[in-house]
Amino acid sequence: MHAMTIPEPGGPDALVWAEVPDPEPGPGEVVVHVRASAVNRADLLQRQGHYPPPPGAPAYPGLECSGVVGAIGPDVTGWAVGQEVCALLAGGGYAERVAVPAGQLLPVPAGVDLVEAAALPEVACTVWSNVVRLAGLAKGETLLVQGGGSGIGTFAVQLGTALGATVVVTARAAKHERLRELGATHAIDYREQDFVEEVRRVTDGRGADVILDIMGASYLARNVAALATGGRLVVIGMQGGRKAELDLGALLAKRASVAATALRSRPLAEKAAIVAGVRDQVWPLVAAGAVRPVVDRRLPMPEAAEAHRLVESNDHVGKVLLTLG
Ligand SMILES: NC(=O)c1ccc[n+]([C@@H]2O[C@H](COP(=O)([O-])OP(=O)(O)OC[C@H]3O[C@@H](n4cnc5c(N)ncnc54)[C@H](OP(=O)(O)O)[C@@H]3O)[C@@H](O)[C@H]2O)c1
Repeated sequence: MHAMTIPEPGGPDALVWAEVPDPEPGPGEVVVHVRASAVNRADLLQRQGHYPPPPGAPAYPGLECSGVVGAIGPDVTGWAVGQEVCALLAGGGYAERVAVPAGQLLPVPAGVDLVEAAALPEVACTVWSNVVRLAGLAKGETLLVQGGGSGIGTFAVQLGTALGATVVVTARAAKHERLRELGATHAIDYREQDFVEEVRRVTDGRGADVILDIMGASYLARNVAALATGGRLVVIGMQGGRKAELDLGALLAKRASVAATALRSRPLAEKAAIVAGVRDQVWPLVAAGAVRPVVDRRLPMPEAAEAHRLVESNDHVGKVLLTLG
């Protein structure tokens, strides 16, 4: 088969579409014949040599895919050869075939085509596990999504809206209209406006109950300042650095909390529990049309370098898909 190899870490042209050995399904695994994968921010870091795959994961980038079950290993029940699926991966989505632990497979939700389904697993699992399971976002609360135009952000806006929260986003101004269409009530141009002031203004001074943050260090103090009493800040990205000072007094006075999580390195059992929760709680919202894949564009998988340039520019809204066939 072919897969996207990285012979030497570097810029987008470090990605090389090359012939590699076929994967075999191990115990508890299924081999998926890939129809599409999607670019995640983490893939850019992996290409640059800053984010190696966890032990046992395929060497090729790609944290999610959609496709058709091609082979089933020992000890797998509930899946059949020929079934259309999508999957959360620890790597290997940029390939014609990938071996996946069966607990990370999902059916293609009703009303979503097979290619578009590749836009869902990583964002659905990340957003649901952090915003719902960890931060406990409730109906009537305010959710602040930092980087609302990202793949993660566009999903969080829709999920928060579907759950009855008021959703506020930060994004550059060109993305505001699209984010309002997806359900955001307020869009803040973080380049021109102070998001702490704006969040306070639109919440009558209360602040945000939950913040989903992708910036890390550069936003930590301001995120804490933008939290409501009892607020929960969840950091999932470090685009603004990893080390910053935390004012525990400010947190304590608000009875607020800060958490940080990563999905890729979790044990298989935790990933399977998240995937099961997404299937149970999020897939019905997708099937009902309340949450949709947001696809900026589709490119043939061998042109992944072009897709990486686009994502690096931040000019996209939602996901960039890589297709095969
Ligand atoms: N921890 C986990 O398990 C996990 C899982 C998945 C993703 N992530 C993280 O989540 C983040 C989003 O991932 P993705 O693949 O969805 O990213 P993406 O589509 O590449 O989007 C990145 C976004 O960052 C925004 N941005 C840049 N500077 C900003 C700033 N100062 N304030 C607000 N937004 C800013 C850009 O929007 P503008 O054009 O508006 O600037 C862009 O939409 C990444 O940091 C990724 O590493 C973490």
